[in-house]
Amino acid sequence: MSTRDSGSRPMRWWDIDQVVAMERELFPDDPWSSEQFWGELAHVPETRWYVVHEDDIGIDGYVGLFAVPPEGDVQTIAVATRAQGSGLGRALLGDLVDEARRRGCTQLLLEVREDNSSALALYARAGFERQGHRRDYYGPGRDALILRRRLAGDGDNS
Ligand SMILES: CC(C)(COP(=O)(O)OP(=O)(O)OC[C@H]1O[C@@H](n2cnc3c(N)ncnc32)[C@H](O)[C@@H]1OP(=O)(O)O)[C@@H](O)C(=O)NCCC(=O)NCCS
Repeated sequence: MSTRDSGSRPMRWWDIDQVVAMERELFPDDPWSSEQFWGELAHVPETRWYVVHEDDIGIDGYVGLFAVPPEGDVQTIAVATRAQGSGLGRALLGDLVDEARRRGCTQLLLEVREDNSSALALYARAGFERQGHRRDYYGPGRDALILRRRLAGDGDNS
């Protein structure tokens, strides 16, 4: 599935303020800073791919890929509270999978907080499986799970 075509486009530097505001709301414990997004966008398109989705109000979702084939990493994915639960996260993740495949990645990895149930459900539905566990990855008492999805030849981008 491709993200609602009308609303999806590459992330640009002028989006960073809006995206960082969303980071602070959606990741209150460890939001990415403007500098981190500037750093990521500096590597587009060589090793990075970042897309935002917009509705009438503004940016309501974004996703980022780090790709050094044969491996890709889901750097970030977020959907504004107002748009959650409507399939946007799944669509953005599907677009990221398509892009990773186009770049020759045969597997995707990501870290997710062990207690982030909505993200874990999203990833499970998209075929990611648990590969490891990192204690205190996000700070004391905040563990991460490492998830992986093989891409080679499975022919499914959902
Ligand atoms: C995780 C997140 C990106 C999901 O985006 P979304 O647009 O709400 O998700 P979707 O509507 O596309 O749902 C896709 C699947 O995710 C799961 N899911 C999403 N939200 C869920 C929730 N609150 N509870 C349980 N499952 C949920 C469902 O399994 C759903 O599949 P289904 O509709 O077939 O049941 C969004 O909740 C978010 O931005 N959260 C805050 C930021 C974050 O945690 N990002 C991930 C960092 S690793």
